[in-house]
Amino acid sequence: MPRATRDLAIAFLCQLALNASVPATGIYGTAHDLSATGLHSVTQAASSCVFCHAVHRSASSANQLIPAWNHTTTGTTFKMYNSANVIGTTIHGQVDAQPTGPSLACLSCHDGTVAMGSLVNSVGAVGATTYTAATGGVNPVSGVIAGGPNLIGSDLSNDHPISITYQDNLNAGLVPATSLVGVRLYPGNATGGKVQCSSCHDVHNYGVAGATAPFLRVTMVGSALCRSCHLA
Ligand code: HEC
Ligand code: HEC
Ligand code: HEC
Ligand code: HEC
Repeated sequence: MPRATRDLAIAFLCQLALNASVPATGIYGTAHDLSATGLHSVTQAASSCVFCHAVHRSASSANQLIPAWNHTTTGTTFKMYNSANVIGTTIHGQVDAQPTGPSLACLSCHDGTVAMGSLVNSVGAVGATTYTAATGGVNPVSGVIAGGPNLIGSDLSNDHPISITYQDNLNAGLVPATSLVGVRLYPGNATGGKVQCSSCHDVHNYGVAGATAPFLRVTMVGSALCRSCHLA
């Protein structure tokens, strides 16, 4: 075959091999597999679900941010999104006073104050508090995300609004809630349902580089993720 074609074929195969090292579906072997077998071996624990869920004795019912929530919840006070700016107030949804539900779950690691291995029920998580150098900015001594792009911190005023109600009834630029595809509102896809971090991200599926990575529910190619909600 011509050299250029051959080089392309090799590049394609290399890409396949690279992709194969980070599974597109499932948490096993991804950045959210914080066990010894995970992408960055953040801890030396044998299993990975336990960092977020426990089958028994997880958080009390009042603190169930997600089903069977098993990580210590952050006590940080966050600065929430506020759309009042030079062109006036532009959002129609109601932003919760503090992050709620699955967003508070994400921030219980991504605000940088709680150690990865700080669990409600540590059963089965042998080695969960032994940290090794992770690329995600996890400090090998304290186990918190101490820096790097994965540190979202406590200022959410410069991030896409979360814990905000979806008012397709007030904002004609939003796709009707009941017609949403791929993305997810909480508790369900209805007017007034909330946009949370997990509306855009699926922590369980890393996705494909340049498209659905990192952990996106819809590809960013052609801004498809954004256009799942915005008629832009
Ligand atoms: C880094 C945190 C994290 C880890 C690790 C994790 N999950 Fe989850 N899980 C979540 C979040 C957040 C939700 C709720 C939000 C969502 O994704 O819809 C959830 C929801 C679920 C649900 C409910 C499904 C639904 O549609 O609401 C199941 C079942 C589940 N997880 C299974 C697992 C299993 C099995 C593992 C291990 C292989 C695992 N999870 C590991 C964060 C995690
Ligand atoms: C138990 C702690 C924990 C929870 C809960 C958690 N994460 Fe993470 N997340 C991590 C760590 C640690 C990393 C970096 C791992 C590494 O690179 O070593 C990470 C990485 C990521 C990345 C970047 C991956 C990459 O390779 O670029 C995204 C995106 C992400 N998390 C989103 C979320 C979202 C959204 C939620 C909630 C729905 C969430 N996470 C909940 C610990 C957590
Ligand atoms: C409106 C969709 C959307 C929401 C809501 C959202 N994200 Fe993301 N997130 C993305 C996209 C898209 C990327 C890919 C990188 C980029 O474009 O900035 C990303 C990237 C990330 C990364 C990787 C680091 C980086 O900056 O690239 C982390 C960690 C992360 N998100 C965590 C969160 C957490 C925690 C929340 C909730 C507080 C959240 N995300 C809410 C769309 C979203
Ligand atoms: C799950 C649905 C959803 C997804 C996906 C989504 N958005 Fe949004 N976005 C919203 C909602 C709801 C609002 C608030 C609208 C309102 O209240 O009027 C919003 C507001 C905004 C705003 C305006 C903030 C302001 O102050 O007026 C921008 C800009 C924006 N989104 C950009 C994006 C981009 C870029 C993406 C893709 C990376 C994206 N959105 C993906 C639901 C979504």
